[in-house]
Amino acid sequence: MSEAVRTILQTNADSARETTAEADAGFLWDFWYPAVRSAEIAGQKLVTAMLLEVPLVLGRTSEGKAFAMRDSCPHRGIPLSYGRLDGKLLECCYHGWRFDACSGQCVEIPSLTSQDKLKVERIFAGHFPCEERDGYVWVYMNGQGTQLPETVPAAPALAVFSDKYKIIHLSCELPSHVDQGIIGLMDPAHGPFVHQSWFWRKRASIHEKAKQFEPIPNGFRMSPHQPSANSAPYRLLAKMTGETVTTTIDFVLPNLRTEIDRSGKLWFSSRATVTPVRRDLCRIDFVAAWNLPIPVAIFRPFAKKFLRQDQLTMIQQAEGLKYNPRLMLIDDADRQAKWYFALKANLLESRRTGAAMVHPMDGPVTLRWRS
Ligand code: FES
Ligand SMILES: [Fe+2]
Repeated sequence: MSEAVRTILQTNADSARETTAEADAGFLWDFWYPAVRSAEIAGQKLVTAMLLEVPLVLGRTSEGKAFAMRDSCPHRGIPLSYGRLDGKLLECCYHGWRFDACSGQCVEIPSLTSQDKLKVERIFAGHFPCEERDGYVWVYMNGQGTQLPETVPAAPALAVFSDKYKIIHLSCELPSHVDQGIIGLMDPAHGPFVHQSWFWRKRASIHEKAKQFEPIPNGFRMSPHQPSANSAPYRLLAKMTGETVTTTIDFVLPNLRTEIDRSGKLWFSSRATVTPVRRDLCRIDFVAAWNLPIPVAIFRPFAKKFLRQDQLTMIQQAEGLKYNPRLMLIDDADRQAKWYFALKANLLESRRTGAAMVHPMDGPVTLRWRS
């Protein structure tokens, strides 16, 4: 393991032990994260969520616009989620201060008299940019005390390749730091052990693989390739179209893994995000869309089982991580995890110095492992 990776792992382990709110929890700020499903906010309902240890209250204005505020009244800190939404303004339950839900700006303080000089409009509750995509409410998390960039980039969107398609959403919580969730997601070597099943593959099917990777901005790509011939779904896809199947898998900071499988007119596109909730809790949100003739009712239980297998493993791993063991990253199976840690460290470094981010890969690389 390189010294840099060892240091990062150690730093993460150390920060996981810190309990003060100011301590760096190893989160990447200034990115979009999915907070809740779009369907959860409707009418005048207020919903709470937590991203990067920031408590949020989310809702929807009567015009249908989703909003996300810090779930804390700037007056005395009571959660705004105990208040009331009238379709545009959120009223705190304690002293009735009212805030514009989309900007966080205070518009009324009921206790003020006509003599009072307080400039109500200069008071803001914390609020965050908010966009809906693929059935999620995404929130752009910028660090406390930091300015939003002049133009906030668009929230991530799942790639789709036809007008009509099926879509499913699944999620599960993992009792671990987001780094463990992410390296679990990009780990090729656990498949034959954790995901053994009749429909996917058997342990005995383990064989050597060589995959080419290339650098992409803020991440890396498993170059388009023919997927593993020992996986039944891919064999099925090839059989249906009579054409070859091409798979492209990308990882992009802070937490996005996308996979696109295409064969003739048929396609399958999925995205998994691992979102930091707290330093000891993260959540996988998995969304998949496809135009293959596979009903949602067939696909869902398989995907659910797959995710559940990962979740159980991570719950077991968290038992061991409580005691802060030293960990290893080995070549080539863990090289993607090393790239992740290096990407993260280099991004933080470039933000600190203002210099361009150095990509840890300088060109295409072939990795070999058995799985
Ligand atoms: S605490 Fe919210 S109005 Fe006073
Ligand atoms: Fe897995």
